Amino acid sequence: MGRTLMSSPGLLLWAAAALAAEVPALKSLTPPGVRIGVAINQAQSDGRDEAGRAIALRHFDSITPEDLLKWESVHPEPGRYDFEPADRFVELGRNQGMFVVGHVLVWHQQTPAWVFAGDGASKLDRDTALARMKAHIATVVGRYRGRVGGWDVVNEALEDDGTLRKTPWLEAIGGDYLAKAFEYAHEADPAAELYYNEYNLWKPAKREAAIRLVQGLKAKGLRVDGIGEQAHWGVDDPPLEAIDSALAAIRASGNTPLITELDMDVLPRDPDMWGADLAKKAKIRATTNVYPDGLPAEAQQKLARRYADVFRLFLKHRVGRVTFWGVTDATTWLHDFPIPGRVNYPLLWDRDGREKPAFDAVVEVLRKDAGR
Ligand code: XIL
Repeated sequence: MGRTLMSSPGLLLWAAAALAAEVPALKSLTPPGVRIGVAINQAQSDGRDEAGRAIALRHFDSITPEDLLKWESVHPEPGRYDFEPADRFVELGRNQGMFVVGHVLVWHQQTPAWVFAGDGASKLDRDTALARMKAHIATVVGRYRGRVGGWDVVNEALEDDGTLRKTPWLEAIGGDYLAKAFEYAHEADPAAELYYNEYNLWKPAKREAAIRLVQGLKAKGLRVDGIGEQAHWGVDDPPLEAIDSALAAIRASGNTPLITELDMDVLPRDPDMWGADLAKKAKIRATTNVYPDGLPAEAQQKLARRYADVFRLFLKHRVGRVTFWGVTDATTWLHDFPIPGRVNYPLLWDRDGREKPAFDAVVEVLRKDAGR
C-alpha cells in the first residue's frame, strides 16, 4: 500500500513541494535593520544561470555585482562607458525590491592601465588623476542615482600595518584622494549610502587605521555610512575573539560595521599562498587541493560550526548588512584564489544548489536570535 502511494507521481510532487517549503528564506529570518545580501555574477544577473539567480532572489534582500560595476567593466576606455550589463543588474535588484549595492568606485585593482597613465613619459599628475576620478564617479553614480542604495567608494586603501597603501591613486593625488572620492560620490547622489571597504580589519593596527581614516573624513563633514570588512575568511582563522573585537571597536567609534564579501575558505592555508611566486603556488596547489571530489561530512560540520560562530557575532554587534561573496559553490571565486585551479566549498549552497549543513546552521542562529 505504502509503496503504491509513494510511486504515485502526484504524491511525489506533493512531497517535493512540502520539502522545498520547509527551507526558509534567509531574508525572512534576519532582524530589522540587518540586511542579508549576496554578490551575483553576470550569468546570474543576465539570467543564463537560472538556478543561481533563483537562490539569490529567494533568500536575499540585497545584491552586489561581483565584477560588473568595477572600473574595467563599466569604463574600459577613456570616455567609453559600457553600462548594459550593469543596467540589467540594477534593474533586477529594483524589480525585486532589493537594496542594490554598487561595488566599487576607487580601487587599485580591476582598473584599466589608462586610468593611471601620465602624458607620454611623465607620471600621472594630481589634477589629471582627480579629473578622471571625478568624471568616473559623477557618470557612474549619477546614472544610478536613486537606484543604487549604497556605494563602496574606496576599497583597500590600507596596508595591514595601518599605513596608506602605495596605490597609483595615492602617488598621483596624495592622502586626500579618499576625501575627494567621498566628496564626488556624495555630489553625484546625495541620498546614497557611502562606505569604506577593506579586508583584514580583524587585525588591530589596520582596524584602528580604518577607524581613524573614516573619523577624519567625517570631521571634514563628509558622509560615511559604514565600514565594510570583506570577510574572506578561513574555517580556522581569523580567531573569533579578533572578529568580536573588530566589530566592537567599529561600533564603539560610532560607525556601522558591515560584512561585505563573506566566504569561508575550507582548504588548508599556507603563509606563502598570497605571494606572486608561481612555482610556489603550484607546489601549494598540489598539497592543499585536498577535497577534489567533494567535501567530507566532518569538514561540512566544521564549516557549519564556523558559520554559526561568526553569525552569532554579526547579530551580537548588529552589523548593518551581511553579504556573501557568491551564491553557490559552483561559482565561487575561491576555486582560483589565491591559488588557481583548486576545488573549494566556501558558501551555504553546494554546486548543485542544495543547502549545505552550513545553511541550516545559519538558519538556526537567526531563529534563535529572533526567539523562534
Ligand atoms: C573578485 C571577484 O569575485 C572575481 O570574479 C574577480 O576575478 C576578482 O575580484 N575583494 C574585492 C572583490 O573587493 O571585488 C574581489 O572580487 C574579491 C576581493
